[in-house]
Amino acid sequence: MHQFMGGVRIDAPAKVNFYLRITGRREDGYHALDTVMQTVSLCDHLEFHDAPDLKRDTLFTNHRALAVDSSNLILRACGWVRERCAALGLPAAPAQKISLQKNIPIGAGLGGGSADAAATLRALERKWNLAWTPADWRGGALALGSDVPFCLVGGEWRCTGRGEELATCTLSQPPALALLCPPYPAATASVYQAYARRRTQLGAAADDGLSAEDFTRLPWREWRGQWRNDLTDAACQVVPQLNAVRLWFDRNQLTGGMSGSGSTFVAACESLQAAAEIGACFEREFPLGRSFAVEPVTSLQESALPTAV
Ligand code: C5P
Repeated sequence: MHQFMGGVRIDAPAKVNFYLRITGRREDGYHALDTVMQTVSLCDHLEFHDAPDLKRDTLFTNHRALAVDSSNLILRACGWVRERCAALGLPAAPAQKISLQKNIPIGAGLGGGSADAAATLRALERKWNLAWTPADWRGGALALGSDVPFCLVGGEWRCTGRGEELATCTLSQPPALALLCPPYPAATASVYQAYARRRTQLGAAADDGLSAEDFTRLPWREWRGQWRNDLTDAACQVVPQLNAVRLWFDRNQLTGGMSGSGSTFVAACESLQAAAEIGACFEREFPLGRSFAVEPVTSLQESALPTAV
């Protein structure tokens, strides 16, 4: 293995779900999804440097509340690559000093952890010069989380299976989005559990909501009232404070709804300036909340590919 000795810098962009329908429960316990995911311009920044003086890969971050132990998806991604290298008989690479500038809120339904894991795979592929097949990388990505295969390639995709089966789709793109992040995170597993409990209690609902095909044909200005995210009620049950955010969103007649398993609400906007104004209005109403005016990104930007530093 010809290892690249210098440091590598890479961006990890967030995603939003424009449409999320749950189509069933799988044998492996996961939910079967039909969702449209979109990369956006809000990014975490990562750097990888060889640190032969360290005993193991070590993560440093500006985010005080983020676990930097072996549960962190960045270190789990490093672990997966190392295990595969060992299984292939490749020599062990030096320990990595990894720095993470965390900009994507945690527990927000914006795929921040998955984005970091995917960026780690892209960075180590380059840094350690690993000529593995896309299918190998996709397998590693799925072992790390359902959204990681999407984050590995980025852009806009219709995703089925657990979220890892990607099919191209073309959407009417809003010029900008306001990401409205309430100060209450929603834990993905708890939201899915609440969804499953609700389904058991309420029984299978007649699925007469909008199909993904119909949604992707809609001009974005017609998304209001058509936005579908089947996890919204479950997220509001797990985090009851989200009901106030949902009410505020509807009262202001915004176009959009919740992303992923929450807690972020996404508003489609005519311009970045309009998105910033909606964000300011949201922060006045929810002073501990945060907002981001972002653009949809149709493919991974140069900064999301590994760059030597
Ligand atoms: O795959 P990931 O680790 O991101 O999933 C976190 C949790 O969300 C899973 O443990 C599972 O409870 C739930 N989940 C699900 N169906 C999916 C994706 C996630 O039930 N398609």
